[in-house]
Amino acid sequence: MTVMFDIKNLQKSFGGVAAVNDVSFQINEGELFGVIGPNGAGKTTLFNLITGFSNADSGEILYYGKDIIGKKTHQLVQSGIVRTFQSTNLFLGNTVLENIMMGGFLSYRPSILRNIFTNTKLREKELLIYAEEISDFVGISKYNDTIVDNLPYGYKRLVGIAIALACKPKVLLLDEPAAGMVEEETKELVKIIKKVHQTGVTVVLIEHDMKMVMNLCEKITVLEFGKKISYGIPEEVSQDKEVIRAYLGVES
Ligand SMILES: Nc1ncnc2c1ncn2[C@@H]1O[C@H](COP(=O)(O)OP(=O)(O)O)[C@@H](O)[C@H]1O
Ligand SMILES: [Mg+2]
Repeated sequence: MTVMFDIKNLQKSFGGVAAVNDVSFQINEGELFGVIGPNGAGKTTLFNLITGFSNADSGEILYYGKDIIGKKTHQLVQSGIVRTFQSTNLFLGNTVLENIMMGGFLSYRPSILRNIFTNTKLREKELLIYAEEISDFVGISKYNDTIVDNLPYGYKRLVGIAIALACKPKVLLLDEPAAGMVEEETKELVKIIKKVHQTGVTVVLIEHDMKMVMNLCEKITVLEFGKKISYGIPEEVSQDKEVIRAYLGVES
């Protein structure tokens, strides 16, 4: 098994609040990994640190053995680390396909020779075809020409995932992708997450819905007040007294 992320003693405080407090764990290549914990546990902060949106105070984030702390988000995207946001960030006023193409632009890496010999029109055409493939994959192609502002909420979130996929992730970090979705939409989302995972992409999922995480994830880490309180396979984590206490608020 190849270790993809080796996170060691990660620390990030805001004022007096330790949002991520001495957190260590590993994520293996190819895993479908869950990060759970009550509101304010530090889950989003952890994603911000991994994806270069925020800098750790101390600790290490090794990605295939190399420390990535201090690297810029676009560099991390190019090395395959791609995220979605808890609140959907779309390019408003643009169609679904145009939105997905923006993701394609971010990861487009033509060689210098191709830059000289390939004209812009051809490149745009390539991106368009690629965006159409991703839209099909995510199952939103009937909305390809719809302005994203007009989509039902669940579909907006799927466009967010499609944009991320267009960046060609090695690891896709999803921040509460099911938040605000109705049951049918969540079921669709679960299918898409499984499909993405089956293509070989490592998936890290922040999720509030315990049942979803327990069913979907192979390995889970649990945060509470910035601290890691549990780590393991779903069967272990769901029976962990600390986890039950954190979720049910019962003293152990
Ligand atoms: N940019 C910020 N400035 C100040 N406090 C923050 C900031 N981001 C997060 N926090 C605080 O850090 C803690 C963890 O937040 P967050 O990572 O968003 O938790 P979660 O995603 O698990 O709900 C919370 O107490 C939150 O208020
Ligand atoms: Mg959050």
